[in-house]
Amino acid sequence: MTMFSQRTHWPLSSNRITQTLDALRRDRVEVIDLTESNPTRCGFRYPARKILRPFTAKGNLFYNPQSQGAWHTREAVCRYYKNQGHTLSAQRVFLTASTSEAYSYIFQLLSDPGQEILFPQPSYPLFQFLGDLNSIILRYYPLVYTDSWRIDIQAMEDAVGPQARAIVLVNPNNPTGSFINQDELGALNRLCRQRNMALICDEVFNEFTFVDDKPPLSLVGCDTALTFILGGLSKTLGLPQMKLGWIIVNGPAELADAACQRLEVIADTYLSVNTPVQNAAVSWFCLKEELQGQIRQRIRGNWKFLRDAMHGAVHYGLLNAEGGWYAVMRTATGGCEEDLVCTLLEKDHVYVHPGYFFDFDPSRVRRVFKAEGFLVVSLLPRPPVFQEGIARLTDRLATR
Ligand SMILES: Cc1ncc(COP(=O)(O)O)c(C=O)c1O
Repeated sequence: MTMFSQRTHWPLSSNRITQTLDALRRDRVEVIDLTESNPTRCGFRYPARKILRPFTAKGNLFYNPQSQGAWHTREAVCRYYKNQGHTLSAQRVFLTASTSEAYSYIFQLLSDPGQEILFPQPSYPLFQFLGDLNSIILRYYPLVYTDSWRIDIQAMEDAVGPQARAIVLVNPNNPTGSFINQDELGALNRLCRQRNMALICDEVFNEFTFVDDKPPLSLVGCDTALTFILGGLSKTLGLPQMKLGWIIVNGPAELADAACQRLEVIADTYLSVNTPVQNAAVSWFCLKEELQGQIRQRIRGNWKFLRDAMHGAVHYGLLNAEGGWYAVMRTATGGCEEDLVCTLLEKDHVYVHPGYFFDFDPSRVRRVFKAEGFLVVSLLPRPPVFQEGIARLTDRLATR
């Protein structure tokens, strides 16, 4: 018998990469951080007065708890989507303190301990922890890469067992930057309907496309299966410190209504979204172009730089992507991503993520090198920092 629950039995010791990074920081070595994905540290212009002034509103002195979140804020979320061509009802919107919290609510709604939820692979590492904390078993469905990332639908179907309750989709996925296409959506909807599963679609990066040619597919209007769409201010407006996310519930009416009734009790148990943020968010949405526009311009500029820098390279390459805040590189160093990341830190003072952090499976990527390895960089750093970091990185990769 131990004091602590099994779900918290995580390996808590630090790994070689964090030890190397800590040592450099102790020695006050300046490291170019190409993993930086906190927008408030990337030199964007935040209009301080417009963001902070709403906090002085008198309405913030009253507490009027509402389980789904304040009606006027939910209406503001609806207006936000209306501008993208989606008509929603505020009755189907739930506010949460973050997208991560939204995941937990939905897992609790759909799944009993020991039941299964499917997640994309590769994808972002928080899922393991969210799964553990909610006592669900994580199953994975693979994304495969030839010239772009696609869902392996057959492998997904094979991964759906009798205990499967839902499929998580990240659109576009982090870190592969791949959006779902119409065929995949059709297959997912069919599978969810046939197997009585729900679809959970994380669209926090949906508007961060690398090109303007066509609006990306969004599941906001989808009601074939019971569908939960997740969004939040941390990415949409680059305001992670404000802690506001949301869930949109869609689907066949009876099922969606039943889901809302239960979700309301879950949300009412915590009432976690604070009043000042809910009130202020109504005016923050008006800053969309100003805030989101800067971030979009940054990721597009850095993506273009990266593509040019990697063009024609022999020992490394860039995997194609369509959007999001990250880029994935392949290197000819499979099996020792950690060595490479530590060498980059120690010798070049550049910090990048190893692919294993996101569970890349080289056998799912059309092979170019004998032993493929992957590195992931954020596209948010200021251009001079990003460009210097990439120059050091490509110099190192060229010498290996
Ligand atoms: C795909 C994806 N969803 C959700 C989140 C978390 O968002 P939030 O800050 O709203 O919890 C992240 C954070 O990086 C993410 O990459």
